[in-house]
Amino acid sequence: MTDKPTVAVIGLGGNIGPHALNALTSDTFRGNYKLPIRALTRDPSKQPSNPHVEYYNSNDLETALKGVDVCVDLTGVDVDSTPTIDAAAKAGVKTFIPSDYSADHALHSWNMPMQRPLKAAEHAEKSGMKAIRLLCGAFAEYLLDQPEYWNISIKDRTYNRIEGSERKLSISFLADIGKVIASVVSIAPEKLPSTIRFYSDRMSFDDLAAYCEKKHDIKLKVVNSIPWDQIKTEAEAANAQSDGHLSLTDGSFAGFVTILKALFTSPTHRDVVDFMNNNQNDLVNPNLFNWTKVDL
Ligand SMILES: NC(=O)c1ccc[n+]([C@@H]2O[C@H](COP(=O)([O-])OP(=O)(O)OC[C@H]3O[C@@H](n4cnc5c(N)ncnc54)[C@H](OP(=O)(O)O)[C@@H]3O)[C@@H](O)[C@H]2O)c1
Repeated sequence: MTDKPTVAVIGLGGNIGPHALNALTSDTFRGNYKLPIRALTRDPSKQPSNPHVEYYNSNDLETALKGVDVCVDLTGVDVDSTPTIDAAAKAGVKTFIPSDYSADHALHSWNMPMQRPLKAAEHAEKSGMKAIRLLCGAFAEYLLDQPEYWNISIKDRTYNRIEGSERKLSISFLADIGKVIASVVSIAPEKLPSTIRFYSDRMSFDDLAAYCEKKHDIKLKVVNSIPWDQIKTEAEAANAQSDGHLSLTDGSFAGFVTILKALFTSPTHRDVVDFMNNNQNDLVNPNLFNWTKVDL
């Protein structure tokens, strides 16, 4: 029998960190790897104590990654993961999971900050590790809890509908992403493909409008019908303006959201955002847990 792997997770304070640690230390998964989980964060004093987790300072990668087999990167999209990958390779880490957790942005040519993990995966592979990319749907919480980003105003009771808003995209609940991470590090890496696509459910902007109407017991008025070509033109302008460096922290956030709207409603390239016909849901979740569904 081979040894159970030692698992490290870096970048805990973001969207996925708490869910990943919950799942990794849960009854379902925690017998599959060595405990404690190595949790790398810039300020370990900020983290809640957990008997199955040992916190390390992510500024001392050499100490934190010594003896680790699998390194899961959860850092923000604007963070350069090169130092982590280099330190992981030097420490003898065998498997590196880059911070993807997004749509399949390799399948279109628009500038997106999420194309960075693709390069991180290439760098990890060149450094001698197996890279496993985890691609998922749009974070469900980003859609359901922030409808104003997606042309719905609860306050004004309006829905500024984009043509194509009936098209469904994959969505992933954060708790499910945490469980998939725990599942993936439980499986021998040689049994895993280099890219894993998964999702919790599917929904469209029209579904989101219906969800908001039900949740707030209101009726939304469709105030405009935006042709998809108009969104495409706006997205192309944002793309050109970004000069290849679209970022979430330098003021190009609105452009980023516009490109997402164009991708979500696009009549073509549905496989960028919808994994219905190409996913590994059954591989990562062979009846280990129930995928969270939207209450429509
Ligand atoms: N599919 C979607 O809809 C969707 C939506 C949002 C994000 N994502 C993806 O999810 C992943 C995580 O994104 P996120 O929004 O959760 O990230 P985030 O909140 O921006 O950052 C996550 C963590 O990264 C660490 N970090 C941040 N800046 C750092 C720095 N300069 N140096 C070292 N560590 C740093 C921090 O961890 P510590 O404080 O613990 O050190 C932070 O809490 C990204 O790959 C992103 O593309 C996907």
